[in-house]
Amino acid sequence: MVKYKIAIIGCGNIGADICIALQKGDIPAEIVALHDIDESKSQLLKRTFRLDAEICNLDSAVSLADFVIESAVSTVVESVIQSCIKYRKDCLIMSLSGLLNNLNLIEEAKRNHIRIRIPSGAICGLDGIRSAMEAGLHRVILTTRKPPQALTGAPYLVEKNIDISGINEPLTVFEGNAFEAAKSFPANINVACALSLYGVGPRDTLVRIIADPNIKENMHEVYAEGAFGRLQTTTVNLPSPRNIKSSYLASLSAVAELRVMAEDYVTYCLYCPDRKSKRKNNL
Ligand SMILES: NC(=O)c1ccc[n+]([C@@H]2O[C@H](COP(=O)([O-])OP(=O)(O)OC[C@H]3O[C@@H](n4cnc5c(N)ncnc54)[C@H](O)[C@@H]3O)[C@@H](O)[C@H]2O)c1
Repeated sequence: MVKYKIAIIGCGNIGADICIALQKGDIPAEIVALHDIDESKSQLLKRTFRLDAEICNLDSAVSLADFVIESAVSTVVESVIQSCIKYRKDCLIMSLSGLLNNLNLIEEAKRNHIRIRIPSGAICGLDGIRSAMEAGLHRVILTTRKPPQALTGAPYLVEKNIDISGINEPLTVFEGNAFEAAKSFPANINVACALSLYGVGPRDTLVRIIADPNIKENMHEVYAEGAFGRLQTTTVNLPSPRNIKSSYLASLSAVAELRVMAEDYVTYCLYCPDRKSKRKNNL
């Protein structure tokens, strides 16, 4: 049976959630390579899920796979995409703030026919945003509410000396565009990046971040206006079972993207069995 070969770059929480999903056996994919800056994390994943995967450096991992999943950190995104272009591999980028800092690479990947998949992450409504863009949007706003502990350590709060540990009512800690949000909260605001990439772009997507001591879940509200009318979505996220800082829906969105790509690949191999060799020969 044909299986889509996966490399995981960053073997933490999302990497583990992908392994759990693959264990169920209904996605035609297998993990063939693991890379993590901390090799013990790759080893742990390999041991825990009994993977028949190589633990290797970034380039080797990318070269071994059909599809690369980046689930590490924003600073690694540039090298991951460059490696995917070099070896002509499609990829899924989870650390989306790293993508906003490298918009030129999205264009370069397109020119090289490399698909960069952008997960919907922890928000709903991106299908409508994408459709609405066909006739234009003139206003897109994301309002994110998080418990204070989910925002602690963010560069913006440290730099501005904003202490949210003792607040007892909601406090708006940031208002700006998605570019500024990604820079100020690189690990907390992937959803703003996804919304901007599906919609009007990072400069024109407005982001408001509220630290709210009265909530336990992360909440994301999307509001958009355009030629189509208006849309409003609210997503209330439970944390990932193994990482309270991450929303479970984000991991599930990675799995859903992988499923689409793997099923597409298997179907393609059925009808065009020479696809693999074409890829290898850079055709
Ligand atoms: N798109 C979304 O909606 C969304 C949602 C949640 C998290 N994320 C992002 O996905 C990424 C992974 O999240 P997670 O919850 O699995 O984090 P995690 O901390 O559990 O795992 C990250 C792993 O990456 C490894 N790593 C760190 N720097 C690396 C580097 N330079 N090269 C290789 N590996 C490196 C770490 O050692 C760790 O094992 C983060 O960047 C996070 O911000 C995106």
